[in-house]
Amino acid sequence: MKRILVTGGSGDLGRVLCRRAEALGWEVAAAYLTHANRIIAGVPIQVDLTDRDALNEVIDQVRPDVVFHTAVPPITTPNLRQAILTAAYNLSRLCPKTTRLIFLSSDMVFDGTRPPYKDDDPPSPLSVYGQAKAEMEMIGDQVVRTSLIYDFQAGNKQVDWMLEKINRGETVKLYADEYRCPIWVETLAEALIELSESMFKGILNIASPEPMTRLELGWKILEAMGKDPEVHIEAISAATTGRPADLTLDVGKAQLLLKTKLLSVDEAAAQWRETHPQAPDKS
Ligand SMILES: NC(=O)c1ccc[n+]([C@@H]2O[C@H](COP(=O)([O-])OP(=O)(O)OC[C@H]3O[C@@H](n4cnc5c(N)ncnc54)[C@H](OP(=O)(O)O)[C@@H]3O)[C@@H](O)[C@H]2O)c1
Repeated sequence: MKRILVTGGSGDLGRVLCRRAEALGWEVAAAYLTHANRIIAGVPIQVDLTDRDALNEVIDQVRPDVVFHTAVPPITTPNLRQAILTAAYNLSRLCPKTTRLIFLSSDMVFDGTRPPYKDDDPPSPLSVYGQAKAEMEMIGDQVVRTSLIYDFQAGNKQVDWMLEKINRGETVKLYADEYRCPIWVETLAEALIELSESMFKGILNIASPEPMTRLELGWKILEAMGKDPEVHIEAISAATTGRPADLTLDVGKAQLLLKTKLLSVDEAAAQWRETHPQAPDKS
């Protein structure tokens, strides 16, 4: 039986990854820092990834065949770069050579001026987060660059902040001119599991094949959740924010390598409705 360690087992992606891996019969250790209550599958293990000795004990105990390193400190963390890199170096140094390390990176390693970005395009980060992720990419065996990770229910950042605004009676302001390739958390988890069984090494873009603005994404998510986007959403511009304008990722390589179909948001919403009969009817 395959033994896996999911760092960020309490995070948006990690918890779904743990659920899907456990369903395959794999032995799953779900590592978390503070939110044990968010873990939905796997054996919860509390560990600070920047604490080398504590992490060493966990690795000795779990002896993972694969580590899915999804953990990331909150963006407001002081010394964010150091926190991201220390965790990655600790994993890389403490895991035996036979352990496959799969690191999650981000489209934010690019500046957004030269899309679409291929898997081997050199990083051009604008933020500390993007810079740290770009440096981290040099450490993992398999590095997955992805984009906004969404779902159609609460318990996911892309959803929760919009619901909080709506519940407070505020409008949801979304950029109409920032392009990303958002991926459904279920599709990403499925693709990561498949990748872990492949011989692939290096950096792979795994995201939606259909770029869209943040406005379109929020619109489609709220619609799928039965909320009226016309009522709740206000379009705004990111032009003066200094944010990367277009982080479209070229996912051609992943589409060739993986059997997992990289779904568009519309395809994901349709699949979600099939598995959630209580979801609002589109017809
Ligand atoms: N979400 C997106 O839209 C997006 C877009 C592009 C790339 N990514 C990348 O995809 C990965 C998954 O993102 P996500 O949104 O699922 O993350 P998330 O929901 O923010 O979860 C972060 C996880 O990291 C854990 N963590 C933070 N600091 C830790 C530390 N020092 N030691 C141990 N665990 C620690 C947290 O544990 P506790 O909560 O228990 O404290 C939590 O489980 C990340 O690497 C992220 O950079 C995400």
